[in-house]
Amino acid sequence: MSKLSPKTGPFDVNTKIIPQTEGIKYAGSKKKLIPQILTLAKKSGAKTVLDGFSGSTRVSQAFASSEYNVISSDKAIWSEVFGQCYLKAKKPKAYYEELIAHLNALPGRDGWFSEHYGGFAHNDHKNIQQKMPWQIHNTRKLDSIREEIDNLQISFNDKCVAITSLILAMDRVDSTIGHFSSYLREWSPRSYNNMTMKLPKIIEGTGNHSVIRGDIFDTIKNEDVDLAYFDPPYGSNNEKMPPSRVRYSSYYHVWTTICLNDKPNLFGKVNRRQDSRDNADPSVFEEYRKNPEGHFIAVEAIKRLITEASARYIMLSYSSGGRATAEELYEVMNDAGELVEVIEVDHKENVMASMVWTNDWLRDAQKPNREFIFLLKKR
Ligand SMILES: C[S@@+](CC[C@H](N)C(=O)[O-])C[C@H]1O[C@@H](n2cnc3c(N)ncnc32)[C@H](O)[C@@H]1O
Repeated sequence: MSKLSPKTGPFDVNTKIIPQTEGIKYAGSKKKLIPQILTLAKKSGAKTVLDGFSGSTRVSQAFASSEYNVISSDKAIWSEVFGQCYLKAKKPKAYYEELIAHLNALPGRDGWFSEHYGGFAHNDHKNIQQKMPWQIHNTRKLDSIREEIDNLQISFNDKCVAITSLILAMDRVDSTIGHFSSYLREWSPRSYNNMTMKLPKIIEGTGNHSVIRGDIFDTIKNEDVDLAYFDPPYGSNNEKMPPSRVRYSSYYHVWTTICLNDKPNLFGKVNRRQDSRDNADPSVFEEYRKNPEGHFIAVEAIKRLITEASARYIMLSYSSGGRATAEELYEVMNDAGELVEVIEVDHKENVMASMVWTNDWLRDAQKPNREFIFLLKKR
């Protein structure tokens, strides 16, 4: 059985094709790998691309800027909102500027978000001991702006532009380590700043894009594309890791609430939404257990993804820290088609290398997790 191994040389990135993208802090965001993703995608000759786990939408934005027709899809509502904003907003810039200026000018006031997520910086207040993701002057702005967005008679797409701008503004003044399952003990320096909404960098161009919110297995049933890019949650191969380690709905529960503005029931120390509990709305890709046949559920899901996707080419991002071993991935790719290229990303040395599929992706406890991007031509 062959595995991954010796580097065949550096991976040549076409630096002429690096577009600007924008987004929140997001676990597993491929912001830094966009040049490599675009260079690999170009080799497929694709015109239509499915970004099947679009998350922050940075990759979707990069594809859209590069003249592909993009289908941006994820199960998370914030991803749909970002996708609508960056890929589908078509009104003149001046319209959105006026909308954002109106929202920025609103005075802050106490409301649901301040009650649950706003804290005080001075020790003369009862809330001083409680860790919170934002200082109260910013949640007060959030409260008045989010309410006004619902009061305005604007289209769904315009709302998505306003909510994206609002989420990015709140992301710039948070006091977290990048997600909302714990908050910093001391206020971060940026949390003292005043949140200010800015015009999102909406993608210009003539591409025909669509945005879907839903489970990937429903999306691939209905979409036929030249290239499908899959960046699923990696799960973890650490047996001791609890199932909640990277669960997107629990990491970013507050973004869900800002999108929905539904004042949900909350639980726990960090005031998570009830529907972000570990046993609610699970993703098979985040599953760490085996099925009754003794196979990892997350690995079976990746196999199913590659087999069922209706695409000439598939690009898969995966980490050596994930559930699937090299052998398992090799087997499924070999069954599904021909592996055109694999690149390994070494974040520490900041290098990318092309690889040949020979013998060696094993879990090496000494080595940090390595990330790979596979380009597969389907049979
Ligand atoms: C590694 S992140 C993707 C990051 C993205 N490529 C970026 O650059 O921001 C994985 C994404 O998979 C989504 N996800 C998890 N399970 C899913 C499923 N069954 N169907 C669709 N999306 C899913 C999560 O919401 C999350 O946004």
